[in-house]
Amino acid sequence: MKHKPGENPWVEQFIRQVRQSAKYRHLDLPETLLQDVITRALARYEKPAQAMVAARRVLHQVVAPYLGDPDYTWALQALEVAADKGMEAIRQVCLELLRSHASTRERLPFLKTFYQRLFEVTGLPETILDLACGLNPLAWPWMGLPPTTRYLAFDIHRPRVALINAFFQRIGVEGEALHQDILVQPPRIPAEVAFFFKEIHRFEERQPGCARPFLEAIPARWVLISLPSRSLSRRRDLLPFHQRLMTRILNGLDWEVQELYFENEVVFCVRKE
Ligand SMILES: C[S@@+](CC[C@H](N)C(=O)[O-])C[C@H]1O[C@@H](n2cnc3c(N)ncnc32)[C@H](O)[C@@H]1O
Repeated sequence: MKHKPGENPWVEQFIRQVRQSAKYRHLDLPETLLQDVITRALARYEKPAQAMVAARRVLHQVVAPYLGDPDYTWALQALEVAADKGMEAIRQVCLELLRSHASTRERLPFLKTFYQRLFEVTGLPETILDLACGLNPLAWPWMGLPPTTRYLAFDIHRPRVALINAFFQRIGVEGEALHQDILVQPPRIPAEVAFFFKEIHRFEERQPGCARPFLEAIPARWVLISLPSRSLSRRRDLLPFHQRLMTRILNGLDWEVQELYFENEVVFCVRKE
C-alpha cells in the first residue's frame, strides 16, 4: 500500500522523532528527505514498526555522521578571523576543515592536481554544480577557478550549508550552498560541470536503481563521478567493484566515459552532451 505524506501518522511520527532526536535535531534535515525515506520504508515493510527501524537505518547511512565533522561554531569564527588576515590564513583554516571529514581528508595529499586534472578534461567551467558537496567547496582555493565561476553546492546538512555560504561570502566567490535533497529534487540549473563525489554508491544503497535516472536528470554537460578506490581502512582495493557498479549504472547510455586514477579515488568523467 502506498502512503502519501501527510496521510499516514507514521510519516508524521518519524519526522517528529528525527527532528527531536539529539542525533539529528541540529542538522535540520530537509522535510523532503525524511518523507521520502519513511514513505519508501512503509511501502516496503508490512509492519510500520519495522519500517520505522529500517528508515532510521537508511537515514544513518545517508547522513553518515561517522565520516566526521568540524566544530561548526569554531569554524565560522576561525573563517572570520582568517578573513581579516588574508588568503594564506583562509587556506590554513580550510585545510583544517577539510581534514575533519573523511571524504575530503583522503583527497588532501593530491588536492591541487585533483582539480587540475579534472579541468584538463572538461575545460574551466562558468558554472559548477557540486552535488552532495560535503565540505568539498572549501577546497575552492586549490581549484584554480576564476572568482567569476558560479559555484552551486547542494547538501542536506544545514551546518555544512551555512559554513559554505559564510566561506563564499568571505572570499568573494560567486557561489551559493543550497539546503536540498538532490535525489528527491535534482537541481535544474544548467552547468558545464557537475561534481558528484563519493556518493553515487550511497545513493544506490538508499534507493537501488536511482543513480541512472538521477544522472539523466542532471543538467550538466559533464558529470564527474568519483568513488573511493580504497576502503576507509585503506586495506581493501575497491576499484574493480566500483568499476562494475559504474558499468551497470551507465550500461546502454551513449555517454563518453574517461577514468582518472588518484591514490585512493577514481573519477569517472562522463560527457553527457
Ligand atoms: C560521503 S560525503 C561526500 C562529500 C563530498 N562530495 C566529497 O567527496 O568530498 C556525502 C555528502 O552528501 C550529503 N548528502 C547525502 N545525501 C544527499 C542528498 N540526497 N542530497 C544532498 N546531499 C546529500 C551528505 O550530507 C554529505 O555531506
